[in-house]
Amino acid sequence: MLDFFNGMGLRGAVYVNGTIAPAAEAAISVYDHGFLYGEGVYETLRTYNHVPFLYDGHCRRLRASAGYIALDVPFTDDELFERISETMIAAGDLHEAYIRVLLTRGIGELTYDIVSTPAPSLVIIVKPLDEPPARVYTDGIAISLVPILRNHPGSVNPIIKSNNLLNNALAMQEANRRGAEEGLMCNYRGELSECSQANFFMVREGVALTPVSEAGLLEGLTRSFLFEVGREVGIDVRGATLHPEDLETADEAFITSTTRELSPVTRIDGRPIGTGRPGPVTIKLLEGYRRRARAITQPRVSEASLRK
Ligand SMILES: Cc1ncc(COP(=O)(O)O)c(C=O)c1O
Repeated sequence: MLDFFNGMGLRGAVYVNGTIAPAAEAAISVYDHGFLYGEGVYETLRTYNHVPFLYDGHCRRLRASAGYIALDVPFTDDELFERISETMIAAGDLHEAYIRVLLTRGIGELTYDIVSTPAPSLVIIVKPLDEPPARVYTDGIAISLVPILRNHPGSVNPIIKSNNLLNNALAMQEANRRGAEEGLMCNYRGELSECSQANFFMVREGVALTPVSEAGLLEGLTRSFLFEVGREVGIDVRGATLHPEDLETADEAFITSTTRELSPVTRIDGRPIGTGRPGPVTIKLLEGYRRRARAITQPRVSEASLRK
C-alpha cells in the first residue's frame, strides 16, 4: 500500500491529531466525519520567504468557517502556528511551502448527532509549493462559464470554506471536459459569482471589477488583499454585480487565489478576452501583489541576525 502512495509521488509531511508522519504514511479514521460527511473546514496557505502569508487572515477565516457549522476550534492561533512550524520542519527542505489546515467534526458513530464526535480532528498537510507554470503568466489561461450553479447561500453557504467541495469539484471537472483550467459559476440569480478554486475579476476601462460578496462566494484573502494593492498601485479595484453578458465587455480578466496569485485569463469558452494576451492592468496588479507579499514576509533585520 505504501509503495502505491510513494508511486503517486506524495511529498512533504502531515500532522494528524498530534502525530507528524511522512505524507505517504499519514492516515485518519474512516469514521472521521470529515471523510464520512464532508463536515469540516479548511484553509490553504502558502509561504513567501518561508513565512506563512496572511496568517492572521487565514486564522480569522478558519474560526469564522468553524463558527458557521458550530465546530469548536480547540487551539489558539499561536498553538496552530507552532504545529504548522513543526510540520514544516518535518517536511524538510522546501523552496516555498503549501500548507493545508483541515479541522473536521472528528471521529464518531455513523450519525449526524454531534454528541458522537467530542473532539475535532486537526490535519496539517505541508508540501513543496508547486507554483503555476510560467506560461500561465505569459499567455494566460482559458476558463469556462459552466452550467453548475454556485451553492445557494441558504444551502452550504459559499462563505464557509468547507471540506464539502462537491459543488466546486463538479464545476472544475466540467471546465476540464471543455478544455478549460477553471470553471466560472453563476449564482442562483444568474449573476457571476466565482470559480471553483478562485475568485474572478474582469477589467473594464481600467477598473478591476469582482463580484460582490452578496453574489454568494468565498471571500478570498487574495481578493481582499488586492483591494489594498489596487490603492497602492493606483488601480481602482471594486466589487460589482456582474452578469455573463458583461464578459463580452471585458478588456482583461484574471482569477485570484493563494496558490495561483493573480492568473491572467485570456479566453473564456474559446473567445479571446481583449487582445487575447495578459493585459496591463492585470500585470500591474500582479507585480504590485508580489512586491507587497514579499515585503511583508521579509524577515526584519533584527530577526535575521538573531537566527545566524
Ligand atoms: C471557492 C473558492 N473561492 C475563492 C478562493 C480563493 O481564496 P484565497 O484567495 O483565500 O486562496 C478559493 C481558494 O481555494 C476557493 O476555493
